[in-house]
Amino acid sequence: MNAVIEERRGSVLILKLNNPPVNGLGAALRTALVGAIKAGQENNEIAAFVISGEGRMYSAGADIREFGTTPPAGTPDLNDAINSLEMSSKPVVSAIHGVAAGGGLELALGTHYRVGAAKTRVGLPEVTLGILPGAGGTQRLPRLIDMTKALELITSGRLISVDEAHKLGIIDEVADGDVLEAAIEAAERLATEGAAPRRSRDQAVGLAAAKDNPALFEDFAKTMAKAARGMNAPYACVRCVEAATTMNFDDGLKYEREEFTKLVTATESAAMRHAFFAEREVAKIPDVPATTSAKDIKSAAIIGCGTMGGGIAMNFANVGIPVTIIETEQAALDRGLERIKGNYANTVSKGRLSQDAMDKRMGLLTGATDMQAIGDADIVIEAVFEEMIVKKEIFSKIDAIAKPGAILATNTSTLDVDEIAAVTKRPEDVVGTHFFSPANVMRLLENVRGAKSSPETIATVMNLGKTINKVAVLVGVCDGFVGNRMLHQYGREANFLIEEGVLPQQVDKVIFDFGFPMGPFTMGDMAGLDIGWAVRKRKAAERPSNQRYSAVADRICEQGRFGQKTGAGWYRYEAGNRTPIPDPEIESLIIQASKNAGIERREISDEEVLKRCLYPLVNEGAKILEEGLAIRASDIDVIWVHGYGFPRYHGGPMFWADTIGLDEVYETMRRYHAEHGELMRPAGLLEKLAKEGKKFSDFKG
Ligand SMILES: NC(=O)c1ccc[n+]([C@@H]2O[C@H](COP(=O)([O-])OP(=O)(O)OC[C@H]3O[C@@H](n4cnc5c(N)ncnc54)[C@H](O)[C@@H]3O)[C@@H](O)[C@H]2O)c1
Repeated sequence: MNAVIEERRGSVLILKLNNPPVNGLGAALRTALVGAIKAGQENNEIAAFVISGEGRMYSAGADIREFGTTPPAGTPDLNDAINSLEMSSKPVVSAIHGVAAGGGLELALGTHYRVGAAKTRVGLPEVTLGILPGAGGTQRLPRLIDMTKALELITSGRLISVDEAHKLGIIDEVADGDVLEAAIEAAERLATEGAAPRRSRDQAVGLAAAKDNPALFEDFAKTMAKAARGMNAPYACVRCVEAATTMNFDDGLKYEREEFTKLVTATESAAMRHAFFAEREVAKIPDVPATTSAKDIKSAAIIGCGTMGGGIAMNFANVGIPVTIIETEQAALDRGLERIKGNYANTVSKGRLSQDAMDKRMGLLTGATDMQAIGDADIVIEAVFEEMIVKKEIFSKIDAIAKPGAILATNTSTLDVDEIAAVTKRPEDVVGTHFFSPANVMRLLENVRGAKSSPETIATVMNLGKTINKVAVLVGVCDGFVGNRMLHQYGREANFLIEEGVLPQQVDKVIFDFGFPMGPFTMGDMAGLDIGWAVRKRKAAERPSNQRYSAVADRICEQGRFGQKTGAGWYRYEAGNRTPIPDPEIESLIIQASKNAGIERREISDEEVLKRCLYPLVNEGAKILEEGLAIRASDIDVIWVHGYGFPRYHGGPMFWADTIGLDEVYETMRRYHAEHGELMRPAGLLEKLAKEGKKFSDFKG
């Protein structure tokens, strides 16, 4: 296979990048490209070049299959290849269709004129992998377009439409018809005009802005502080773009390379690349091959229009799938539909949705109080109260009414999906679809595989995830499934730490500084403390009497402090303000609780707080893996990154533990086990991997 396909059109040499599926800029392609340009320079019959992509797109960038390998000696690197295009004395025109991303766009920026097809998208998404555009992107883009725009594109990694790219000056011409024909025409025109090639390295569009405003880079860095918290890559991007204004082009390229090398070898980018691959791996289910036929979901029914049901319904309406919503009474139904309407109206008022789109979505929702209305739905999702008796009763009804072959799903967060499936005559069609709150916002979907769920049912709900823009992860049946079961460990230890000597604000700060959006106590106040209190009261009888239990949260709830909604919880709040304020009353309550529990309070370091909160969570992940309730460690990472705000730049809890070393995690858990008892027992798998010097990523079911 030729990595570059050469075609002649008169005096124009067309070079088609040919490395399926995305024209990754691998060694063979770079070598062929440089060779063809060189030969073309020496060939008098050739007046100009057009670079285009064979297949679906121009190029999505570096060839990821090449990561971590050493290309054959003498192979030009991407910078060499781009420089050879840019330095060509004959005009080089890009014909861009599909996508030009990362190295793909950097290659195009090295050509002298860029024609884009309609619907093309371009961008430099490297920062989302913890690196930066390392083949001249940070040097050429600010020379071609407005400085602040260049900074924004490079530090966000956002892909933009061809029209936006045209407006900015990244694309010179948007083709009305065939992009290759338009590019050939442009190449012929440029060759005939005989002007010197317009090299990006010689442009200066964005550079002046920095001279006029020396604080530009510092100011820009401040604007991204929230999104870039804890990361190095976005700041390295800013430094490189700034270098374009303080160094000559070649020195700027060198500086960019140095910064790139630092990033690509750091844990941050390893973690973000891990997250990227984990999100793709998650769709693979060993015994449900990709060839398994998934059912078409053209209509849905949701039972229960409370907090979750309403949000779930919105997911379907958002992608044009009609939804029937069932409630017990008209008043509850009206309230539920009103809440959905309010949610949409809020998005409209922020300018993120048009009124027309909102009306269309609302038009796809039909309410009913009679269960018969679910008869035609391809999927029925139950989202009623978390009571087994209620769920069983509803599933018997669903079984009697739903059409044959419909998927019967439950949104339960703790109950046994198999027990629910058992009341139907078609347990093979039953599955859990565990959405996270708010269900219209949170991207995670835990699909819960019942003992009898058929491969077709699983393939359908995994596919559904994609349809409704969720990240779907397949998990097995257990209390809390994967995410909440692990969360439970973390919450419990945070509470024990409070009893032992720290205050909520210290725990929350440690967890926030680690990179979570907030710590467990701020989170509790936001979610409402009454929910957990009710569960604890219900489950009190199941708790072994010799098991340690922290009563601090109960004492707080007894005072009617349920969190933000009551103006006080673990913290106090001022009217109309959600900022948690440490409360001396809570401090005395905690000190008293320690006394009551016979615990002498001690200084606890931030390091211990972090380990005590997160190691037991990882340990539970190990138990989940050995029990076969998650397919692979990276699936657990996907759950934590998308459902719980685990910082992507740490990769997820299991990847994070791998980077620390499982021997350290295991030894610490062993110590905790000795000090704190049974709840801290190290998982067998953790012990095994640690002793073998292995990682969670080595675990293969
Ligand atoms: N709230 C969360 O954060 C969350 C997250 C994940 C999963 N879940 C699970 O989702 C389910 C629903 O939780 P929620 O928070 O939306 O509860 P909710 O109390 O807000 O809503 C439940 C709704 O179901 C309706 N309902 C009850 N019986 C019904 C019946 N027979 N027919 C039709 N409607 C009926 C109720 O009127 C109510 O509106 C539970 O299983 C819960 O465990 C909740």
